[in-house]
Amino acid sequence: MNWLNDFRDSIEPNAPLADRTKYRLGGNARWLAAPKSRQDLVRIVRQAAIDEIDVKTLGAGANVLVRDDGFDGIVLRLDQPAFTSIRFDGERVHAGGGADLMGLAQQCARRGLSGLEPMAGIPSTVGGAIRMNAGGRYGEIGNVVDEVCLVDRTGCAHRLARTDLEFGYRSSNIGDGVIVSACFALHACDPLRTVETFKRIWAEKKASQPMAEKSAGCVFKNPPARSAGALIDQAGLKGAAIGGASVSTRHANFIVARPGAKSADVLAVIDRVREVVADRFGVSLELEIDVW
Ligand code: EPU
Repeated sequence: MNWLNDFRDSIEPNAPLADRTKYRLGGNARWLAAPKSRQDLVRIVRQAAIDEIDVKTLGAGANVLVRDDGFDGIVLRLDQPAFTSIRFDGERVHAGGGADLMGLAQQCARRGLSGLEPMAGIPSTVGGAIRMNAGGRYGEIGNVVDEVCLVDRTGCAHRLARTDLEFGYRSSNIGDGVIVSACFALHACDPLRTVETFKRIWAEKKASQPMAEKSAGCVFKNPPARSAGALIDQAGLKGAAIGGASVSTRHANFIVARPGAKSADVLAVIDRVREVVADRFGVSLELEIDVW
């Protein structure tokens, strides 16, 4: 794997991941790579495929739980300028896959470009949000994605048009490719209105979710026509704790971690919640977060 030496200034071996996730938990990545250009990204992904090294992309680390023994592969982070730019072009906005989603949504709202206001309060990068079709009650990002450029697992670049893209509840057909950039189709509106909507959605989330605590947002997907949070709450699990992890007392679909917690504690709470909810309601909860 001599090619790794060519990226000495952008690939860090045995790199801690905890500080790069909102949970602040978990072990190290065998390598952490921050490519400086699309060409570097393609080369790293292609070489990794040849050498059969697992690759994962880390966005804002807001929907990920890294296991205590870490990840034995390459973790990509797209935080170099080649992947974080934002360009406005009338009602279209082009953004890098590593661009900050909230910053983008806020800039759009201020310019009176409507469509991304439901992203208020969602910590994510553009790529992470598109891959899982992030959203909530007021809309999902997939509604306004017009084009996605990605690098697939073999290092080939693809441009997916709106008609190639499929979005479902917290899912997309993008798979495990690396989202390099995306284009959003928004519509012009009164900036006072878009800013007001953005602020209202953000305030609503702050009031109902434990934003100041360490978590990865909602842990489980809502089962069809039901609410995971309400089921966990009705099962009496708010506050249920194992080690340093507990079901949030504010929103039952959040599992929060105190300082000193282990990823294993969060995983144990996940198992417990699943067990109790299955027992009580016959509902099998599916994870929304990614466990690495
Ligand atoms: N509820 C309870 N107890 C709780 C939490 C919720 O009874 O502890 C009830 C609420 O009163 C409400 C229902 O459950 O009647 C749904 O709750 P909420 O409005 O908070 O929405 P949610 O379905 O739990 C979804 C997304 C959130 C997103 C919010 C707001 C999922 C799994 N979650 O939450 O997304 O922020 O809507 O739009 O789809 C995330 O993806 O990480 C996330 C937090």
